[in-house]
Amino acid sequence: MNTLQHDKYDAVIFDLDGVITDTARYHYLAWMRLANTQGVHFDEEFNEQLKGIDRMGSLERILMAATRQYSLAEKLALAEEKNAQYVSLISNMTPDDLLPGAVQALDSCRAAGMKVGLASVSKNAFTVLDKLGIMDKFDYVVDAAKLARGKPDPEIFLKAACALDALPARCLGVEDAVAGVASIKAAGMTAVGVGERSVLAQADFVIPGLACFDLNNY
Ligand code: G6P
Ligand code: MG
Repeated sequence: MNTLQHDKYDAVIFDLDGVITDTARYHYLAWMRLANTQGVHFDEEFNEQLKGIDRMGSLERILMAATRQYSLAEKLALAEEKNAQYVSLISNMTPDDLLPGAVQALDSCRAAGMKVGLASVSKNAFTVLDKLGIMDKFDYVVDAAKLARGKPDPEIFLKAACALDALPARCLGVEDAVAGVASIKAAGMTAVGVGERSVLAQADFVIPGLACFDLNNY
């Protein structure tokens, strides 16, 4: 390993859904079901814009494509319905649901002397980390319930950097969502996109999955 390159970062801040585990698929299925009940066409392309967007923000985007207006009470009920479906989908998750290379990527950051953070806007993140059995691999996990603004605002990544005592310019962010990469860049950090270059155009580096995560390359 090239120690000179590791000197570039003090902390690595990971997103959860779609990076460490495939819960992005469960969010997609739950939103699809909700959209169908409201007569809104929903597909992978629409879903791409929702990745990294918080629960109410995602719902607003779906309902914008509906034919009628919704009251706040109706919106809250729909958000609750989606979350109940999502919670049921994640209920049987185990450490087997870690994506390939996830544990190795987290461990490689610690081994290189860096702090490890988690920046997910999901209010279910603590539950998912617990089911995956990886809570102890993070030095700090942002509590999504305490955020004023979701991604693409930089707040979540800046909060993680501050808690990890790292300057944003010395942080690496790892994200699968367009909004998440925008959040990392707005925070003044280096972004590793997980997915396709054509989608994650703003990322500094793009890898297909954490199995390809290699600190020497960033
Ligand atoms: C993540 C996911 C989004 C999800 C959001 C809120 O950012 O990428 O798809 O909508 O978390 O999740 P929650 O579990 O709080 O509804
Ligand atoms: Mg994600």
